[in-house]
Amino acid sequence: MTKKRVLSGVQPTGNLHIGNYLGAIRNWVEIQPNYDNFFCVVDLHAITVPHDPKTLAQNTYNMAALYLACGIDLNHSTIFVQSHVTAHSELTWLLNCLTPLNWLERMIQFKEKAVKQGENVSAGLLDYPVLMAADILLYDADQVPVGEDQKQHLELTRNIAVRVNDKFGSEQNPIFKVPEPMIRKEGARVMSLADGTKKMSKSDSSQLSRINLLDTPDVIKKKIKKCKTDPIMGLSFADDRPECNNLLGLYTIFSDQNKEAVADECADMGWGKFKPLLTDSIISALEPIQNKYNEIMTDKTYLDSVLKEGQEKAESVANKTLGRVKDGLGYLPSF
Ligand code: TYM
Repeated sequence: MTKKRVLSGVQPTGNLHIGNYLGAIRNWVEIQPNYDNFFCVVDLHAITVPHDPKTLAQNTYNMAALYLACGIDLNHSTIFVQSHVTAHSELTWLLNCLTPLNWLERMIQFKEKAVKQGENVSAGLLDYPVLMAADILLYDADQVPVGEDQKQHLELTRNIAVRVNDKFGSEQNPIFKVPEPMIRKEGARVMSLADGTKKMSKSDSSQLSRINLLDTPDVIKKKIKKCKTDPIMGLSFADDRPECNNLLGLYTIFSDQNKEAVADECADMGWGKFKPLLTDSIISALEPIQNKYNEIMTDKTYLDSVLKEGQEKAESVANKTLGRVKDGLGYLPSF
C-alpha cells in the first residue's frame, strides 16, 4: 500500500524556538515512518517581511541542518529548499488569479503582521497564504502537521483546492487533493515566556520571550529564571493561570511525562523549586539536538548533497502537479 503524503515547512527567519519545535518539527519526526514526507525550508516566505540578503542563505542552511539534527530521517523524508523548486512560484501565480482578495484580507496573521509593519506592508505579505497553499497542493499532501496558528491558512488552502476543483476539475478527475491539517494537542501553541497570553514568536523583540533550540544551557537557565510567573503558591494547570499553564505544559513535554503526573508532582511546589526542574528538562532534551547540529554543520558537502537530492525529488512531484493544473486551466502545452 502506498503511504499517505505529508508536507510541512518552517521559515528560515531568525532562530528556531521551542514553539516551532513542539508545534511542528517534533511531530514530523514522530510521524515520519508512517508517511511519505516532504519538509521544505520556506525561504520564499522569508522575504514577505523586510529581510537581510546577507543572512538569508546561511539561515536557510542552518534550518535544513536543524531539520536533520531534530531527527528528520532521509529514509522516510525529503528535505528541500522552497526557492529551488520553481513550481512553487509558478503555481502561486495561477492560484493568485483564482483566490478572492477578501479571503486573504481576512487572515488573522496578515492583520497582526501588517499592524506591526505600518507603512511597509508588501503585497507578498498579503499573498503569503497563497504561496503556502501552493507548497501544499503541489505535493498532493494528505496531511499537514503544523502548530495551531496555521489552522486558518490550512482552511484557506482547502477552500482554494475545492474552488479550483469545482471550476476546472471534475469529480472523477479533481485537480487538487484537499489536505487535512494535523495539529497535535500538546505543544500546538507554546506561549511567550514574557506573557502567557501571547504566542511564543520569532519576531518578538524580546529574546527573553523565547527559548531557541540552539540556546546554551546558561542562556536557557537565565531565560527561565527571568520568565513571568504568578504569585499563587502551588502550581496547577488552571485556565486562569496562563504562565503556569504554559510552563507546566513545557515541563510535561520536555520531561516526557503525562499531565496528571506533572500536576501531582508540582501541586505543592513554588516557583523556586519548579524552575530548576524545568530548566534541566529543557537543557537535556535540547543537548542531543545541539550536538548533532554542530556535527552536521562541519560537513557542508553532506548538507549540499541532501538539498540537491531533495530538490530533484521535490521537482519531480511538483512539476507533475503543475502540469496537471496548467492543463486543467487550458494552457497551451510548452515545447
Ligand atoms: P513559521 O516558520 O512561522 O512556523 C513554523 C511552524 O512552527 C509552528 N509554530 C508554533 N507552534 C507552537 N507554538 C508556537 N508558539 C509556534 N510558533 C510557530 C507553526 O505553526 C508552524 O507549523 N506558514 C508557515 C510556514 C509554511 C508552511 C507551508 C507550513 C509555509 N508553507 C506549507 C506548512 C505547509 C509558518 O508559520 O512558518
